[in-house]
Amino acid sequence: MFRPLAFAFVAASLLLASCSKEGGSQPDASAPAAKVKLGFLVKQPEEPWFQLEWQFADEAAKKLGFDLVKIGTPDGEKVLSAIDNLAAQGAQGFIICTPDTTLGPAIVARAKAKNLKLLAVDDRFLGADGKPMEDVHYLGISAGKIGQSVGVALFAEQLKRGWQTDETGVLAVTFDELATARERTDGAIEALTSAGFPANRIFKAATQKPEIPAALDATNALLTQHGDVKQWLVCGPNDNCVLGAVRALEGRGFGADSVVAIGINGTDCIIELEKQNPTGFYSSVLLSAKQHGYQTCEMLYHWIKDGVEPPFDTRTTGVLINRGNFKQVLKEQGITH
Ligand code: GLA
Repeated sequence: MFRPLAFAFVAASLLLASCSKEGGSQPDASAPAAKVKLGFLVKQPEEPWFQLEWQFADEAAKKLGFDLVKIGTPDGEKVLSAIDNLAAQGAQGFIICTPDTTLGPAIVARAKAKNLKLLAVDDRFLGADGKPMEDVHYLGISAGKIGQSVGVALFAEQLKRGWQTDETGVLAVTFDELATARERTDGAIEALTSAGFPANRIFKAATQKPEIPAALDATNALLTQHGDVKQWLVCGPNDNCVLGAVRALEGRGFGADSVVAIGINGTDCIIELEKQNPTGFYSSVLLSAKQHGYQTCEMLYHWIKDGVEPPFDTRTTGVLINRGNFKQVLKEQGITH
């Protein structure tokens, strides 16, 4: 009589015996652990800032020995499918600069469902209550302080040039829907007003996107209303917003002698600073793309591999660069060689 149970027992024993002979099913301490795989998702892959983050992430992957998957995710749909895609590829976690901070809860839910660890970079997630999601690990810039340093530098330059306040205006390109952007321009405006620049000569041009063409349009609309201003001090959330303003000002005859524009990022203005003739784009705060690209990877990698949880809130600083020092500083920071 055929006895299925006994047959199964014998078959299983044979299988075990053959496996143990080959050592296949026994955990083997000397066998290398599966390679860690991480994703790095960014909202604007065309922006030099994000390309540099990726470059430093690549360096981390090489140094620490993990696989890196870089994905451009300009909208919510792309973010969610990128997360699914990473999970299907066997990744254990990802770093993300989200295209929209209100996607925070959806991103966290999808990452949890797929058992992926995550770290937000640059743009902090907002919860359903509109407040920052403090329980999501984040690395970003000290936005308010960096903005203030822009305001201080603009004011100092106005004094140096001897520009009369009643002929000078401040043009702030704003993108208030993004907290880190709002804190930057608020910081710059606060520093200018506390230095004594009159609030009623500070004008905001709200851009639809933190990009050159949108900032150019927003600035053009504002300039039509302020034909009496002779010199402009310009600030904005990042280099591209400020470059858009500089281009719009050029279109109306304002150049290096009547514009002092200071950006933030320091990575998207290199071509501008390299131009033979100075433009209104005077300087920028160079942020630490290395910390945002390399250190975030390092944090996530150690969290996954060694169980070392990163801090919930890490902030980075920046350094002012201009035509005089940018080549040296970029070299020191490992951005150029
Ligand atoms: C935001 C901006 C970027 C860059 C980063 C830095 O994401 O859109 O251009 O400034 O912050 O954290």
